Amino acid sequence: MADVVDGVFDAVAGAAPDVRAGLPERRAKRDAENVSGDTQLEADVWADDLLFDRTESIEGVNWYASEERDAIVTVGDADEGYAVALDPLDGSSNVKSNNPCGTVVGVYDQPLPAPGSSLVAAGFVLYGPTTTMVVARDGEVREYLVDEDGDRTDLGTVELPEDPTVYGFGGRVPEWTEDFEAFVRDVEDDLKLRYGGAMIADVNQVLVYGGAFGYPGLQSAPEGKLRAHFESMPMAYVVETAGGASSDGSGSLLDLEPQRLHERTPTFVGNERVIDDLEAALPD
Ligand code: AHG
Ligand code: MN
Ligand code: MN
Repeated sequence: MADVVDGVFDAVAGAAPDVRAGLPERRAKRDAENVSGDTQLEADVWADDLLFDRTESIEGVNWYASEERDAIVTVGDADEGYAVALDPLDGSSNVKSNNPCGTVVGVYDQPLPAPGSSLVAAGFVLYGPTTTMVVARDGEVREYLVDEDGDRTDLGTVELPEDPTVYGFGGRVPEWTEDFEAFVRDVEDDLKLRYGGAMIADVNQVLVYGGAFGYPGLQSAPEGKLRAHFESMPMAYVVETAGGASSDGSGSLLDLEPQRLHERTPTFVGNERVIDDLEAALPD
């Protein structure tokens, strides 16, 4: 297992400078939607193709799935092995306004759909002022600086600070439920709003400063926006491994058992006491 996970994160780090370098000329929208109904950018599809090419031949990786593909792809021929699940470009609407975006990676020990408990590692690359990669595995989270050749400098372990400081919750406020809005009114008494529209960047600041990120169920979309396999469960794995908590509103996101590849779920991650307060505020 260790070698497969190493291979996946080596490949993703190696691809990071190429993804970054390819963004300026791929900011245009395509005349196409992905299976979730998002209008794709040229960059979304291009990053997906690039990351597919870099990961599909890794020995032990037998399935590839991504937010941008309708179905899971079998890339190995054994009956058992690992599935790589990617959000190739998270926050791609930020490309136009030159705000951060990233790549989310989940490594599952079975083909998708798969429960959160089958994640063996997860992480993300953040294309911000610098390129960093965060990897959660074997009970530890480490952050790396990724240089222009895709080589990594280990910046050490990541643990959520004890005191929460920042929060960011997605969705239009009039679309929030009354219970969720009441919870947020309490949160904003103590914490500072910082919401950037790219889950990876918004979660990374929670890892650095403490706090909470969430995308709730909305009145018009009770499952919210974020996709369980590609976004919510991998980020929950990272935050829980860093000492924080995750929730879909009633329990850990890692207890989810999605039945569909592109299933969505309300998503919350952050300091345990904020997530506990959230669960207490929402109906069962
Ligand atoms: P993606 O670009 O992969 O579709 O993901 C965007 C997601 C997530 O990164 C972010 O938290 C959320 O959508 C932002 O949504 P709003 O624009 O509704 O705030
Ligand atoms: Mn995303
Ligand atoms: Mn995406």
